Amino acid sequence: MKVGVVGLGAMGAGIAQLCLEAGLETVGREVTAELGDKARGRIEHFLTRKVEKGQLEHEARDAAVARLTTTTELGDLAGCDLVIEAIVEQIGPKRELFAELDRICPPEAVLATNTSALSVTEIAAATGGPERVVGMHFFNPAPLMPLVEIVRTERSSDEAFEAAYALGEKLGKHPIRCHDTPGFVVNRVLIPLMNDCVRVLDEARVTPEDLDAGMKHGAGWPMGPCELLDLVGIDVHVHAAEALWQALREPRMAPPPRLVAMQRAGMLGRKTGGGFYQYSD
Ligand code: 3HC
Repeated sequence: MKVGVVGLGAMGAGIAQLCLEAGLETVGREVTAELGDKARGRIEHFLTRKVEKGQLEHEARDAAVARLTTTTELGDLAGCDLVIEAIVEQIGPKRELFAELDRICPPEAVLATNTSALSVTEIAAATGGPERVVGMHFFNPAPLMPLVEIVRTERSSDEAFEAAYALGEKLGKHPIRCHDTPGFVVNRVLIPLMNDCVRVLDEARVTPEDLDAGMKHGAGWPMGPCELLDLVGIDVHVHAAEALWQALREPRMAPPPRLVAMQRAGMLGRKTGGGFYQYSD
């Protein structure tokens, strides 16, 4: 089986890493060769760490890396059985990409989007074959988080849906099946919850450190909400919250002004070196 991944940012590179580790030939597409090289470096780094920690054999690491091809040409995805899109979270570029993939990929290929909060149905409608379009929503960091939501639209075929589910299993994930509704399962719950956490910062005049300690030690979270927002990216969260607010009009879905201000200031979390916390690496 050959898999394509379009967009090799943090999520796309993580998904590609999973495919490589599962023994699948993987074609990763980025808009420039430099971005493709950066993603390759990221994947090699995490696989090397696994070797250093005794979680992966050296030969297996080298074989996994050798299964990756990076390209800037969408046409190179023509031979893939399943393509996962992980580009920018904007409906226009996603629809354009799916229309293009629909022309390039043979009719039996499955086209999956990793969108967090946009409508899979709306993305699928940009193609001439919406039956083959599904959602495969991974969680950040994709190589570590066990869940993948397999999302079907009204028009997804059973074959495409089950092929995506089977791939989720092959990648060692715990797939769950759901229908295309705003935020699917986890983000429908997690996004307003994270928004509430940020509102509590101001209401209770608690520091990010103390709020994180509260949720870790009082609610058993593996990571505090401020740490998590810095990991996911403030911009990614604000986009997802806005999409849910647009779709559902529930006030709790709207991104809190504090997060919008951080987004505008470019304080996006780990990727910019600072969000709620400062990062040196
Ligand atoms: N890709 C690949 N490997 C990675 C990685 C990444 N992005 N990030 C870390 N790793 C590897 C590193 O090699 C690291 O080891 P190193 O520091 O020794 O090099 C190793 O993973 C860390 O593994 P650990 O087992 O030590 O990690 P922890 O036990 O600290 O767990 C965690 C980390 C799994 C992130 C845990 O803190 C956790 O579960 N946090 C909650 C994350 C969460 O809720 N994510 C969901 C966000 S919501 C979302 O994604 C939805 C979207 O639509 C917005």
